Amino acid sequence: MILLVNGPNLNLLGEREPAVYGSTTLPEIERMVEEACAAYGQKVKAVQSNYEGAILDFLQENRQEARGVIINPGALTHTSFALHDCLKALTCPVVEVHLSNIHAREEWRKTDVVSPATRGQIVGLGPMGYYFASVWICSNIAEKETPSFDEGAAIEVAPEELQPVPGGEYEG
Ligand code: DQA
Repeated sequence: MILLVNGPNLNLLGEREPAVYGSTTLPEIERMVEEACAAYGQKVKAVQSNYEGAILDFLQENRQEARGVIINPGALTHTSFALHDCLKALTCPVVEVHLSNIHAREEWRKTDVVSPATRGQIVGLGPMGYYFASVWICSNIAEKETPSFDEGAAIEVAPEELQPVPGGEYEG
C-alpha cells in the first residue's frame, strides 16, 4: 500500500492562490495517484489534514502496511521536526512533493526540515510531481520484487542433463 499524505491548506487546492498552485483540486490529484499506482497493482491510502498530530498518527498507524509514502507536508515542511522524526521512523521510501518551487520563493520557504528524512524531493512541477513520485515508488517496489540475476544463477545443471543444441555444440 502506498500512503499519500497532504498537509495543511492543501484541501483548498483549486481555489487557493491558483497563480501559484494551479487549478487542479486535491480529489483530482488523489485520483491521478490512485490510477498511476493501480497500473503497478498498488493500492493507495490518502489523507489530508490541517493538523500536524493527525498526520503523525496516520503515518504511525499505517507504517506496517506502507510500501512507500508520497507526502506534500504543506507549511509543515518548514517547521515540523516532529514530522521529520516520524518519517525517519518509517522503513519504506518517502518522496516529498511540492507543487511550487519552494527554493525559488520567499526565504523562509527555502528552509525544509523534512527533506533530510526523505529519499527524494520533487518540487515546482505542479500536480505532475505527484505522478512522477507514484511511478518512482511503484517502480522501486517492483524492482525489489524482481529476482536478481544472481538468484537465478543458483540453479545448477548436471553435465548429463545438458541437451545437444540442434546443429552441434553443447550449451551450458
Ligand atoms: C507547498 C509549498 C509550501 O511552502 C506551502 O506552505 C504549501 C504548499 C507546495 O506544494 O508548493 O502549503 O507545499
